[in-house]
Amino acid sequence: MQYIMKGGNPLVGEVVISGAKNAALGILAAAIMTDEPVLIENLPDVQDIRVLLRAMSEIGVIVEWVDGHTIKINGGNIHTVRVENAYIRKIRAGYYLLGALLGKYRHAEVALPGGCNIGSRPIDQHLKGFRALNAQVDVQHGCVLADAKQLQGGHVYLDMVSVGATINVMLAAVLALGNTTIENAAKEPHVVDVANMLNSMGANIKGAGTDVIRIRGVERLHGTEYTIIPDQIEAGTFMFAAAVTRGDVMVKNVIPKHMEAISSKLLEMGCEVSEFDDTIRVVGKPHLRSCNVKTLPYPGFPTDMQPQMCVTLTLAGGTGIVTESIFENRFKYVDELTKMGAQIKVEGNVAVIDGVSRLTGADLVAPDLRAGAALVLAGLTAEGVTTVDNIEYILRGYENFEKKLQSLGAMIEVVTDEREAKKFRLRVG
Ligand code: EPZ
Repeated sequence: MQYIMKGGNPLVGEVVISGAKNAALGILAAAIMTDEPVLIENLPDVQDIRVLLRAMSEIGVIVEWVDGHTIKINGGNIHTVRVENAYIRKIRAGYYLLGALLGKYRHAEVALPGGCNIGSRPIDQHLKGFRALNAQVDVQHGCVLADAKQLQGGHVYLDMVSVGATINVMLAAVLALGNTTIENAAKEPHVVDVANMLNSMGANIKGAGTDVIRIRGVERLHGTEYTIIPDQIEAGTFMFAAAVTRGDVMVKNVIPKHMEAISSKLLEMGCEVSEFDDTIRVVGKPHLRSCNVKTLPYPGFPTDMQPQMCVTLTLAGGTGIVTESIFENRFKYVDELTKMGAQIKVEGNVAVIDGVSRLTGADLVAPDLRAGAALVLAGLTAEGVTTVDNIEYILRGYENFEKKLQSLGAMIEVVTDEREAKKFRLRVG
């Protein structure tokens, strides 16, 4: 499957942002930690979520869709704590089932995670955290085995700020005996959202959103109803789409506070950015200025927005320097942009981007989720027709991506074969 698009239309109009994928993945795992029903609203309908739900169903979780974005989960009938199937290896967040099952049943066996190939992505900090809670942890035959006679609160200092490890340790610790402290914790909005959800189930977590999270273990969790926060990265992607196409977009259903790193870079580049209660308006300008960016844990500039930033810098005046400090392999899309006439040099974790006045359409391949979305943004600004192949990556994390773009005036379609692609080319001229 690929996207085909003709660039040149400024994106104009309103777009409504879906629920946060990376919060939802943690929240779904949290939901199985009680035997009572849990209702989750604002769930994004994206592939990663469907994969996790499928893996959860296979171990006995009852999953019932109430509507397209609301789901009822019941973890009261889980019949195995071994999650080792073809699906779970495809996504990263399967590892949250380790924390959730270890917390609830004191034992878990979960296949090592897959996910986007953006670097080596070890999970040593997750395992170190479980060990600090008195669990025995082993990796055997591609599976992580965690076991604890008695899960005991402990002190965990994360060697690096890790979203996954923070959420995973939090999941296990809420049902451990006594107190747990996670130091050097990740502060991302989705960490806070998972903590809020767990608290609404009866957990006792304090300090989520700061460097130090303190958890007092409780005996049991109960059912709840919870609404997931909007997706910061989807929102950021549409903000950059407005900027790079020189458009004017109202990005709705966002929490402007979560977008500050992104808004401030767009302002620095010369865009107009206005904040309302739950909406941000971005107006792109004909002449954007380059700037320098370094990806950092929240509240720094998110690594998941780095490719979209680079595409925007490609069409800005001057030279911009982008330093990727979270994942070592996140510039794979640069070769694709070069095919469109971009001038980018990558050395290690630094990209030096010389702005050009135009990009030209080309046949591209998405190397991962966020880079795939960024290549689409490039195609929407380029002269002529661009195709982006391997869009399965993009569908993992963006709900109705092409429909939302179409509603803003983009000429983009999904095609499955050459005949459909030809038709598109004939139609757009
Ligand atoms: C989460 O990945 C997100 N995925 C990623 O989003 C996001 O890029 C990343 O956080 C950073 O914000 C999900 O939430 C499912 P980390 P995660 O642990 O948790 C190192 C997307 O596009 N590290 O915060 O895997 C690691 O190598 C995806 O939606 C260890 O060394 O990221 C990296 O350098 C892509 N050992 C840094 O920490 C560990 O045990 C941060 O990774 C864990 C992490």
